[in-house]
Amino acid sequence: MPGLLLGDVFPDFEADSTVGRISLHAFLGNSCRTLIPQRCWGILFSHPRDYTPVCTTELGRAAKLSAEFSKRDVKMIALSLDSVEDHLGWSKDILAYNNDSSCNALPFPIIADNKRELAVKLGMLDPDERDKDGMPLTARCVFVIGPDKRLKLSILYPATTGRNFDELLRVIDSLQLTAQKRVATPVDWKPGDNVMVVPNLSDDEAASLFPSGVTTKDLPSGKKYLRYTPQP
Ligand code: BEZ
Repeated sequence: MPGLLLGDVFPDFEADSTVGRISLHAFLGNSCRTLIPQRCWGILFSHPRDYTPVCTTELGRAAKLSAEFSKRDVKMIALSLDSVEDHLGWSKDILAYNNDSSCNALPFPIIADNKRELAVKLGMLDPDERDKDGMPLTARCVFVIGPDKRLKLSILYPATTGRNFDELLRVIDSLQLTAQKRVATPVDWKPGDNVMVVPNLSDDEAASLFPSGVTTKDLPSGKKYLRYTPQP
């Protein structure tokens, strides 16, 4: 993603969406479940095109998991390369794919990037996937944006590979935990599993920060860097 690095302030922008004209930072900051802007996270996920099969399954899953994102104070917003009118028509298909007749709108807006302006600005185009006019489509980008509006995580998949939204919840759990506590989450970590003490903490500091105890795995090198503690 040229130009956009972890820790950078995520660019603010105005765009048309299925809920009207929005300004990204105001949208993310103003109305998460807690109503406390300092706790509002955001997730922006992009899609190559409306009325496409993989995108339909992804947005269906995202809609089904929306309460889980909301529980974590994460506001969701999607983006696709078509117009608001197309997004609204496609949303009905997505709800039907979910067999959801309880509402007629998705629980998050979809930004209309039909001029590809955001796709270019945010480095989201997939050069290998093109529309019938030969224009590149948007890749499947995920940006997780912290309450400080800085980029906390980015993932970039090609258009042909659908994402795993359960994994996105898992990484958000890790990001939110590690934003508060001086721990890191190991391979395949799930909430409730042991976590790891970060390398830049001394054993004494770890002992006082983690009263539940720190266990260290013995290794052939004799170095004591595999330090586990129960999830604080
Ligand atoms: C899809 O969503 O199914 C898709 C979109 C663009 C390229 C390939 C697949």
